[in-house]
Amino acid sequence: DLSTTILAIESSCDETSASVCVNGKILSNYIANQSVHEKYGGVVPELASRAHMQNIVPVVDTALAAAFPELNNTTDRLKQLDAIAFTQSPGLIGSLLVGTQFAKSLALTLNKPLIAVHHMQAHVLANLIGDDIPEFPFLCLTVSGGHTQIVLAHDPLNLEVIGETIDDAAGEAFDKSAKLLGLPYPGGPLIDKYAKTGDPLKFKFAEPQIPELNFSFSGLKTSVLYFLQKQETGFIEANLADLCASIQHTIITILLKKVKKAVQQTGIKQVCIAGGVSANSGLRASLQEMGQKHGWKTFIPKFEYCTDNAAMIAITAHYKYQAAQFASLDANPSARSH
Ligand code: KG4
Ligand code: ZN
Repeated sequence: DLSTTILAIESSCDETSASVCVNGKILSNYIANQSVHEKYGGVVPELASRAHMQNIVPVVDTALAAAFPELNNTTDRLKQLDAIAFTQSPGLIGSLLVGTQFAKSLALTLNKPLIAVHHMQAHVLANLIGDDIPEFPFLCLTVSGGHTQIVLAHDPLNLEVIGETIDDAAGEAFDKSAKLLGLPYPGGPLIDKYAKTGDPLKFKFAEPQIPELNFSFSGLKTSVLYFLQKQETGFIEANLADLCASIQHTIITILLKKVKKAVQQTGIKQVCIAGGVSANSGLRASLQEMGQKHGWKTFIPKFEYCTDNAAMIAITAHYKYQAAQFASLDANPSARSH
């Protein structure tokens, strides 16, 4: 048959995920989160790679079973695959190695091609999953725990970074601010949760003046720290919702100001968001609102395709397969972006 079935594996940070797609349609996307890091206030690389080792077989098995419920064993399910994709970079090297080695072994055993995927490209292309998808060219604000970029997508395999953070990522701004408020890691989703009942204009935090389409978030953390140091004991507890809402509002304002500038500069009015921080309900609502106001068409991936997941690796691999961009069996992962 002429259809192309791809198994994709994502293990760049602290989520082990596997997904199956047929001709770009996602059949399954299974994600195992790692709770071991919570008490350390951040991802511990050594613990992450060990957890990936424990998770990878059951995660792949679950994704295959969900994709092919009519087949009752793993061997028959594996026979459906035409290619194996994996996240090659960027990420934690020990974590990436687990997914890479697993994907290479499967490709070798099944004698199927291997596809190496760039994690940040995949975050952007998560916007191509589903029916209501952007046309090229489009802009994408990619906001994760490690990256903050404005990307001009010319076509699936040609993404141009036209702006990025000069220091911390937006996700770090959320997580570091949350830590100052005494919230556990990762604090982004918790700030989102408490912000819902808070006043976003109650407290003012410094907004950086950075040229072009670039961002800076290290000042915000310092601004929050100095502000909190001046307060009395019990202040955080008494003002948690307003603090979260105000911090979130500041981050969203910084992000969307540059998105607006990017639309003005490029004339492109299709705007997507991607990456873990695009799960933020305030950011999602503000982007939609801004789009309506300025006549843009906005696209927001489904929740499960925003934070790290293998479906975005699968959709990217789908385009790479079509372009015959395969990796060799001696492909190595890389912690760095390039
Ligand atoms: O893309 P991602 O899952 O992993 C990386 O590639 O970094 O992004 C993780 C980041 C973390 O900083 C996390 O706090 C943030 O995304 N995040 C959120 C929300 N959900 C995840 N930040 C704000 N609001 C959320 N709802
Ligand atoms: Zn990510």
